[in-house]
Amino acid sequence: MPSKRVNTFNVILISTVVVGVGYVLSTPWLPIKLEVKQSLGYPKDSLLNFTELTGRYGYSSEEHTVVTEDAYILSMFRIAKAKNCHKRKRSPPVLMMHGLLLSSHTWIDSGPNAGLAYLLADACYDVWLGNTRGNYYGRRHMTLNPDTDKKFWDFYIEEIGKYDVPAMIDYILDNTGFDKLNYVGFSQGCGTFFVMCSERPEYCDKVQLMTALAPASRQYHTQSKIFRAVTQLCERFENSFSLYGLSEVFGAGSVTQEFFAFFCQLSDITESICETLMNVFDHVHSSHPGSITNDTTRVLVGHFPAGTSLHNMARYGQSMKTKRFQKFDYGSEQNLVVYGSEEPPEYKLSAVKVPVLCLYGKNDGLVDTKDVAWLMSRLPNVLEVMPVDDPHWNHMDMTYSQYTSYAIFPKVHEYLLKYTEA
Ligand SMILES: *[C@@H]1O[C@H](CO)[C@@H](O)[C@H](O)[C@H]1NC(C)=O
Ligand SMILES: *[C@@H]1O[C@H](CO)[C@@H](O)[C@H](O)[C@H]1NC(C)=O
Repeated sequence: MPSKRVNTFNVILISTVVVGVGYVLSTPWLPIKLEVKQSLGYPKDSLLNFTELTGRYGYSSEEHTVVTEDAYILSMFRIAKAKNCHKRKRSPPVLMMHGLLLSSHTWIDSGPNAGLAYLLADACYDVWLGNTRGNYYGRRHMTLNPDTDKKFWDFYIEEIGKYDVPAMIDYILDNTGFDKLNYVGFSQGCGTFFVMCSERPEYCDKVQLMTALAPASRQYHTQSKIFRAVTQLCERFENSFSLYGLSEVFGAGSVTQEFFAFFCQLSDITESICETLMNVFDHVHSSHPGSITNDTTRVLVGHFPAGTSLHNMARYGQSMKTKRFQKFDYGSEQNLVVYGSEEPPEYKLSAVKVPVLCLYGKNDGLVDTKDVAWLMSRLPNVLEVMPVDDPHWNHMDMTYSQYTSYAIFPKVHEYLLKYTEA
């Protein structure tokens, strides 16, 4: 079938271009000047940072600095005052964790009528938004320089779950005086939570309720060919890339991100190509036209991709080849040295004792429904598993759709309320 061959060829071509450009040129490149972007007509929201953007819509937010046990410095945000909450804030606090290549912007880039952080803040929750090491709000370290020290980038979800999430939980609890908080994760933001419960169960005890949106764990059934190809290329060439000292991928200000942002708002034609590209990446059966508005797309490309390590991407490449949710696979010989066994150890999902609410999309090309079912059958304390009604609901819809206020928010609110004091 020639069309199938062409299709495969396209996937390989696009993947190679994405990895090549994202990778080879991912050292911070001369960013396009702010004034130039303004004059080119970039939407204002895409050029604002977290505190500026929330401020623009009548919310005030604070920036907090968290230092992890292994000395990474992360910015965390808190929505201090919501536009539409006129009561005392509910307690305990809520921590929201973004997904792969994203940042705390994920929860606000679709604007005050759809961004889940705004919706929760307006419902008077005390909303905190975390960032993981490696993205533009987590690209600092007490001793390592991310631009020159390769060691800075030697992490994957293991370290995020073991150090970043616990540091943020401790910080919030210290700051607010509570013993426990509620957690909302998206995609990788769930995987890192499960890693934390497996490796540091005492931190799992500090969470009352976990809301899992399109939770990533094992990704054996992931259908997105492009995501598969990109992450597996990263895996395959990790060692050779890293010989050249290149270990950060898709960072902000990198050519990929700048190009994306420029291209996606250049003209109507490029804008629709841009949308198609994002769609190809994500859906399984059919795209979801209009769910993510053009305005949101133009804003989010200013903050996406937010950067991570090549090592983390490579681990995703592995996660699609195995039926286990496990640690990094270094090959049987090296595994023996690192783990004392030929196979990498599995993360202990039975350690996730926290009550879990799960929402997922039936058209999600990245986190497949079969893997969600697999995960849910292994978690010991699942409250409810809800597919979003809309059959076209895909991965990015979970945080960027204009429909979140009725597709997602009511269920999240219902369960959060049960685990919240007045
Ligand atoms: C956001 O921008 C404001 C000024 O506009 C600046 O004071 C603040 O440091 C910035 N925050 C971050 C995290 O970049
Ligand atoms: C979004 O942009 C595409 C391409 O320019 C256009 O066809 C579509 O009508 C736009 N959608 C909305 C809701 O404006």
